[in-house]
Amino acid sequence: MSYPQQRPRRLRRTETWRRMVRETHLSVDRFVYPLFVVPGEGVRSEVSSMPGVFQLSIDLLVTEAVEVHELGIPAIILFGVPDHKDAEGSEGYDPEGLVPRAVRALKHEVPELQIWADVCLCEYTDHGHCGLLTPTGEVDNDATLPLLSEAAVVYARSGADVVAPSDMMDGRIGAVRAALDENGFGEVPIVSYAVKYASAFYGPFRDAAHSAPAFGDRRGYQMDPANTTEALREVALDLEEGADVVMVKPAGPYLDVIRRVRDAVAVPVAAYQVSGEYSMIKAAAANDWIDERRVVLESLLGIRRAGADIILTYFAKDASRWLKQG
Ligand code: PBG
Repeated sequence: MSYPQQRPRRLRRTETWRRMVRETHLSVDRFVYPLFVVPGEGVRSEVSSMPGVFQLSIDLLVTEAVEVHELGIPAIILFGVPDHKDAEGSEGYDPEGLVPRAVRALKHEVPELQIWADVCLCEYTDHGHCGLLTPTGEVDNDATLPLLSEAAVVYARSGADVVAPSDMMDGRIGAVRAALDENGFGEVPIVSYAVKYASAFYGPFRDAAHSAPAFGDRRGYQMDPANTTEALREVALDLEEGADVVMVKPAGPYLDVIRRVRDAVAVPVAAYQVSGEYSMIKAAAANDWIDERRVVLESLLGIRRAGADIILTYFAKDASRWLKQG
């Protein structure tokens, strides 16, 4: 096939043409904004490695959620950062814990805002791992499942619209689905962090959530960054077990994985632009090395173009404002 007269630039010369032939669009409809909730009142403390991201007490979380809702962002995802941590991560499934109380307050004040509850033990365990430990210090997959299931039921009971297990235990989606169904929450969808890599890009999140593992690392349960076929295996398992949406995380360094997953499944695919991706852009922008607005929108567009239907991003508020300005 040869087209000697072709000049693609003809269709790039004017904004009208660019508008007409644009293949991918960013929209606020696709964004989920992550929020960190801490104990106390009147607390709004900036995460030092994530300028513009705050740990909020429930009262100020509600104020923030009102603003998020007014910007048109459809959903938030909540992470609890408790004072009390123990070996079993018991605050993670305490009905009077931070997240259930936050969800009830949010549902009371901003009922239309969709609330996703992250389900994991790492924010709640004193050792910082995502599950219970065996006496030899390994993460005990099967003993962890009932606790994750209990957390999911507690969050659903407090009013969470979505549960999002991020722990990477095998079989957790099936366990959580069964527990939700048995407790009358058959309508609550599961967004599975199906493809979650053992990534260095989570560094700033671990400052924000005080969830760095006290020893070892997460490579025994999170995925090897070198693998993509394995991602399809994780996705297939989670779909068999009842996941409604599958997530790839991180996003930017894994665009090929997002595309492979998007092409392989018929459910919505979410992607999480994680803390390290945020912090790198923020740091470069603070130095005036890059144009923050353009880089943020381009990074989000790249994630959309790779095939993500939904994007979890700390830039959701800024991006929504910028998209409105056009
Ligand atoms: C685990 C969890 C993590 C993130 C979301 N859920 C951290 C981890 O696995 O260490 C990371 C999100 C981010 O880096 O923004 N509950």
